[in-house]
Order: sequence, then structure tokens, then C-alpha cells
Amino acid sequence: MKNRLARIFSRDSGKTVMLAIDHGYFEGPAAGLEQVDKSIVPMLDHADALMATRGVLRTSIPPSFTHGVVLRASGGPSVLKDLSNERIAVDVEDALRLNVAGLAVSVYIGAEYETQTVHNMTRLVDLGNRHGIPVLAVTCVTDEAMGDAKYYRMACRICAELGAHFIKTYFVDKDFDSVVAGCPAPVVVAGGAKLPEFEALTMTHRAMQAGAAGMDMGRNIFQSEAPAAMIQAVRAVVHAGETPKKAFELYESLKNDVKMPPIGPRSHARPRASV
Ligand code: R5P
Repeated sequence: MKNRLARIFSRDSGKTVMLAIDHGYFEGPAAGLEQVDKSIVPMLDHADALMATRGVLRTSIPPSFTHGVVLRASGGPSVLKDLSNERIAVDVEDALRLNVAGLAVSVYIGAEYETQTVHNMTRLVDLGNRHGIPVLAVTCVTDEAMGDAKYYRMACRICAELGAHFIKTYFVDKDFDSVVAGCPAPVVVAGGAKLPEFEALTMTHRAMQAGAAGMDMGRNIFQSEAPAAMIQAVRAVVHAGETPKKAFELYESLKNDVKMPPIGPRSHARPRASV
């Protein structure tokens, strides 16, 4: 368990910058993730850990990637249905075979299938404890509860009480420190919908100041005009404690150096053909 956690959290800072690219499991090819081999693989080295599905891992991520993989382990409904109606979607034996560093499961507090998603998590925690795999509980709240610290505080605490090893939640403008303070397990923060880069770096800084253990960011990195520059700027805030201003200057200085390859016809190359 500790070895796997050490593949997610930096030995130097104790924090993590996870790159979340699992959005396709419920919404199909999200903007920026149409061709993971072209848009994501070139910047993988900047991620402490990658949060992805086993399908993308098998088809698009080179086996030479040895940083932590936090495997999306729940799924079921698409965005066209009630997202909370998820089930566990990965066998722990496959997770072990893929040598993942963690398992991620969504927990929908306040939603129609709340209890089912809590049980998905507790089942995975039991499996994770048996096999030494930490479980990341991804907290989701209803639309009405979004942006209100009291619901995230409750969701994070429920997940920690029921055994999740670390928790992912969303940043809220007011009282986010109470969300972290009320959660005995480490809290990593999702990026949420795409913001201008300076604002995303400011949110990252505020989350870290509030005691977060890192970021698990997706759209604010892979939908950035310069994703590789952006992830390095996020790293500067998370690992080096840089201010948003300094990190944005870094982003600006790096962004012109990085040319992303154009999206084009798919080659159907399968770098993990043997798995
Ligand atoms: C949502 O459940 C997905 O698991 C994403 O990983 C999560 O939303 C983080 O991505 P973003 O930073 O784009 O919000």
C-alpha cells in the first residue's frame, strides 16, 4: 500500500499532480482527449500520476510509463442517464495485472443511487486493503449542492469514514479549508470546468493553501492552449509553493516552446498490444 502511494505522492513534497483523463468513460471523446496518444502521451512525464481507464491505458499509454496509474474502477451510465447509477467496472485481478497504483471510484452523495455508490467504494476498499491498493473516492454532489462547502465536507468525511485512502473533491470558493480540515484522509482537488489559465492556477494555489494534498486536474490542463506548459505551471504551485503570478509567468514562458502535434487520422497503433 505504501509503495503504491509513493507512486502517486512525491517523495520530496509529499504532494501530487495527477493528470485526470478518464472523462471518456461517461461522456465519450471529451475535447482534448480525442487522441490520447497525441495529446497526452507527450506530456506524461510531468504527471506524478495518471488517472485513466483501463481501455485508454491498454490502447494509448506506453508501457514504459512507470509513474503511478490510478485506474478508473467504476462506470455504467453515460451522460445521457443518471450518472449516479454506477457499478464497479474492473476486476481487482486486472488492476493487479496492470500494476496500478490506485483505484478510483465515484461516490454520489445526495443522488438517487447514493447507497449503491457508497457500497461500490466500500467493496473496493475491502479489495484494496486485501491486495495493497489504495482507493481514491471521487466525491460527486447533486447540481443543487454544487459550490457549497457543507456538501463537500459531508461527502469527503463519509468517504474517509468508510475507508477511502484518499479523496478527490472539487474546490469551492468559500470555506474550502473546512472541507480539508474535516477529512482525516488526504484530499486532492479536481480542476473542474475549463478556466483561464491564471484563474486555474489561482484556484490551485488556494486549494494548496487550504491544506490539499495535491491536484487531480483534467480539463484545465488538457484543454489549455498549451497543456504541457500548464501542467508544469500547476506543478510549480503544488510542489514548489509558487504564487499564481509566478506560475503564470512560467506558463507564458513555456507555452511558446511547446508545439502539440495536430490531431489527424488514427494509426490504431496499440503500444500495449500484449495486455
Ligand atoms: C470525473 O468524475 C472524472 O473522474 C474526472 O477525472 C474529474 O472530473 C477531474 O477532471 P477535471 O479536472 O476535468 O474536473
